[in-house]
Amino acid sequence: MAQDHVRNGDGLTGRQRVRLAALSDLHCTRTSQGALQPLLAQASAAADILVLCGDLTDHGLPDEAHVLVKEMMGIHVPVVAVLGNHDFHHSEQEAIEQILTAAGVKVLDGDEHELLGIGFAGVKGFGGGFGRLTLEAWGEDGIKKFVMEAVEEALKLEKALARLHSAQRVALLHYAPIEATVEGEPPPLFPFLGSSRLEEPLNRYAVTAVLHGHAHHGSPEGKTTAGAPVYNVAMPVLRAAFSGSARPFRVIELPTVAPSAEATVFDRFAVS
Ligand SMILES: [Fe+2]
Ligand SMILES: [Fe+2]
Repeated sequence: MAQDHVRNGDGLTGRQRVRLAALSDLHCTRTSQGALQPLLAQASAAADILVLCGDLTDHGLPDEAHVLVKEMMGIHVPVVAVLGNHDFHHSEQEAIEQILTAAGVKVLDGDEHELLGIGFAGVKGFGGGFGRLTLEAWGEDGIKKFVMEAVEEALKLEKALARLHSAQRVALLHYAPIEATVEGEPPPLFPFLGSSRLEEPLNRYAVTAVLHGHAHHGSPEGKTTAGAPVYNVAMPVLRAAFSGSARPFRVIELPTVAPSAEATVFDRFAVS
């Protein structure tokens, strides 16, 4: 916990700052025992809150979630998470959420949660593309269902943001809300990596920062049209962006008291 009372350059004390360590796309398998624990321990040791942005399991199996929970045993800070598309693969997402919840992880699915003065709104999100190429609900039922899934995820995000009353609001997603953080992936994949429909509520509720994963070969940073920073914290992205790091995670430091204060963002990397 940031419980020191050292006064920083902007006049905020340690108690008025909260550090988030964020990472995504762990893709835990049945054989991941021992592989994730060092990373998770170091990420959580660097922060007051650990944030996980989906694809926590590789094939969406409860057994994989049980392995992940064991890997998380050394974590002594609160953990907030959203699930990703891989966590849905075997239609066992409810069981996975229950396993994680029983272990103390706060899993958000259209929910809001406040920790240490920071408000979190989390949703998996969905695809559909970006900007003028956003898929419209027109034509076959299959297309309409695809679009409606994205619309419903955006509505869930909006409702969660609307219920937050904290000075700082952080959005957790799995899918990307902007194109900038999927750039680097093959363009034909963009519609399956995120949707601009997720960006609308982020702008309307003036979020402080957005964290997502899913686009393993995307870009680490971007901004919403309203100027909020968006961070793709998929582990392959951070490894590629900061070459040589075997265990990447991103740390964001937020003041808890000033809605207009900019987040100080920096990256920490564990030594292999
Ligand atoms: Fe992934
Ligand atoms: Fe994913």
